[in-house]
Amino acid sequence: MSHLTASYRPHPQSTRPLIVSKMLVGTSLLALAALAHDVLALPSAAQSPSAIRIRKSTATNTTGVFGPDSTIWAEDTPYFPVADYVAPPSNCEIDQVNILERHGARYPKKSPTKKIKSALKKLQKVTITETSMQFISNFTYDLGEDDLTPYGALQSYDAGVEAYQRYTSLVEANGLPFVRASSSQRVVDSAGNWTAGFAAASNSVYTPVLSVIISEDGNDTLNDGSCAALSDSDSPGDQEAAWIDIYTVNITDYLNAGAPGAGLDNTDTQYLIELCPFVTVANSERSEWCDLFSSLDAFPGFEYYGDLDKYYGTGWGQGDLGPAQGIGYTNELLARLTNTAVNDSTSTDTTLDSNPATFPLNRTFYADFTHDDLLIAVYSAMGLFPTPALNYSSPDDQETSAWRVSEMTPFAARMVVERMSCSDESGSGDGEYVRVLVNQAVQPMPSCGSDDNDLCALDAFVESQAFARNSGYGIWNECSD
Ligand SMILES: *[C@@H]1O[C@H](CO)[C@@H](O)[C@H](O)[C@H]1NC(C)=O
Ligand SMILES: *[C@@H]1O[C@H](CO)[C@@H](O)[C@H](O)[C@H]1NC(C)=O
Ligand SMILES: *[C@@H]1O[C@H](CO)[C@@H](O)[C@H](O)[C@H]1NC(C)=O
Ligand SMILES: *[C@@H]1O[C@H](CO)[C@@H](O)[C@H](O)[C@H]1NC(C)=O
Ligand SMILES: *[C@@H]1O[C@H](CO)[C@@H](O)[C@H](O)[C@H]1NC(C)=O
Ligand SMILES: *[C@@H]1O[C@H](CO)[C@@H](O)[C@H](O)[C@H]1NC(C)=O
Ligand SMILES: *[C@@H]1O[C@H](CO)[C@@H](O)[C@H](O)[C@H]1NC(C)=O
Ligand SMILES: *[C@@H]1O[C@H](CO)[C@@H](O)[C@H](O)[C@H]1NC(C)=O
Repeated sequence: MSHLTASYRPHPQSTRPLIVSKMLVGTSLLALAALAHDVLALPSAAQSPSAIRIRKSTATNTTGVFGPDSTIWAEDTPYFPVADYVAPPSNCEIDQVNILERHGARYPKKSPTKKIKSALKKLQKVTITETSMQFISNFTYDLGEDDLTPYGALQSYDAGVEAYQRYTSLVEANGLPFVRASSSQRVVDSAGNWTAGFAAASNSVYTPVLSVIISEDGNDTLNDGSCAALSDSDSPGDQEAAWIDIYTVNITDYLNAGAPGAGLDNTDTQYLIELCPFVTVANSERSEWCDLFSSLDAFPGFEYYGDLDKYYGTGWGQGDLGPAQGIGYTNELLARLTNTAVNDSTSTDTTLDSNPATFPLNRTFYADFTHDDLLIAVYSAMGLFPTPALNYSSPDDQETSAWRVSEMTPFAARMVVERMSCSDESGSGDGEYVRVLVNQAVQPMPSCGSDDNDLCALDAFVESQAFARNSGYGIWNECSD
């Protein structure tokens, strides 16, 4: 655990110069806005491949919590650090941290629950002849719905412990984390467990509380329900369904052969595969469903289904409408980073955000709790994970694609924006900087000229967020059409 407690204080004797490209500072605002918008419009306007830096996993331990394949369960992946945490350069001192975190592991939602049960019934009404499937006859489905599982609560608690340990220097009695949550019960419970972990790690010296619960019935920057036009088109697309037919076909054949008369179709198979992650996170123990589907090599295809679903849901693939839902949070982030009032005309609740009691500025520590679809929208609005259109019929470059939902929005996923004050001997690199980490991996930020350490000067970062600052260039208006 020693890497969790690395010190961020500059070494007094440090002479390492900070080299920060000022490339984009001074270019016209218009050019930057155009750049940011080009980046955002990537799926339609192909970007030169050299601009896309493929992330490489630098984690020393990528062992899944529940077996090796548990790092490729798409959005049902239990959190794992994608990279080891790397402290900022020693001449920098973090002075603010903003955490945007997905709720911990949950039970299946209502509609998938029905489909899982129906697929299971087809198998359980016939005699299973295949040995590797025998356990299915005796399997009882008894999972909850929608809510955080005990394992999900533990993940959130552990995240709170880690946040306290990593950012202890930012915490003081009158500077506790300011915590908000979207109003779904599992999100609220995640925030509660996070604060409990944070408090416990400090031996109850610092006991943050959940200060604001934002209703999902109104403007909510922590939920993706604010764009009516998009929620209309949110049902599983035909094209994504086509991928199910491609990757599950042999698996469906195997299951039907092992349970003669079951008559499963490929969609049934997709829901049966989901039993692996869901039963696992319900019981905090690897399910035998995982071993069955692992032996059938189902998970790479399952992961790619999740990748497609999110990419064309609230990610780059959803025109600008998906990313539009990430604008509100991004503008709140900019307000906090720059200590100025929120300027947003999209999904912010202006009553909450204009009140210092519900949207305080000038704090050192913010933690917000949310859903995966909103996180994807925020990544896309911010220009993270730029990815050319994903191919519906072939995950051609699955090994190297930057768009891996398991590494972007696993259960208890977190984006962390660190603001830091840096100095160097010459003084030329002095100033405020930011960097963005997703599940501990520091993200390249080419749109604000980030340097070898992936730091951006704060002003360049703000300018690079032109899409958000300009309400997506009118895109938000399409939401109410
Ligand atoms: C690697 O991570 C897994 C899951 O997070 C954990 O169970 C295991 O103990 C770790 N191994 C090492 C050597 O740290
Ligand atoms: C299923 O349950 C029955 C009755 O309890 C038992 O005899 C059988 O061994 C079980 N089968 C498996 C594969 O666990
Ligand atoms: C932690 O999550 C569980 C749900 O799994 C919930 O019942 C409990 O109230 C939460 N704890 C806190 C302190 O919020
Ligand atoms: C299904 O099996 C056939 C025959 O073994 C093989 O050619 C094909 O590549 C398999 N399809 C998939 C998606 O694995
Ligand atoms: C909700 O957002 C819309 C713009 O999208 C705005 O017109 C309205 O005033 C907002 N409501 C509140 C309470 O902030
Ligand atoms: C922000 O906080 C710092 C330290 O607590 C304080 O010195 C400063 O006056 C505050 N600035 C504003 C604008 O509130
Ligand atoms: C998608 O992949 C398929 C199969 O490899 C290929 O035939 C097709 O041309 C690809 N489509 C695009 C748009 O690249
Ligand atoms: C808010 O943002 C809009 C759009 O970028 C801009 O025109 C306006 O000047 C900003 N308002 C303030 C107070 O900064």
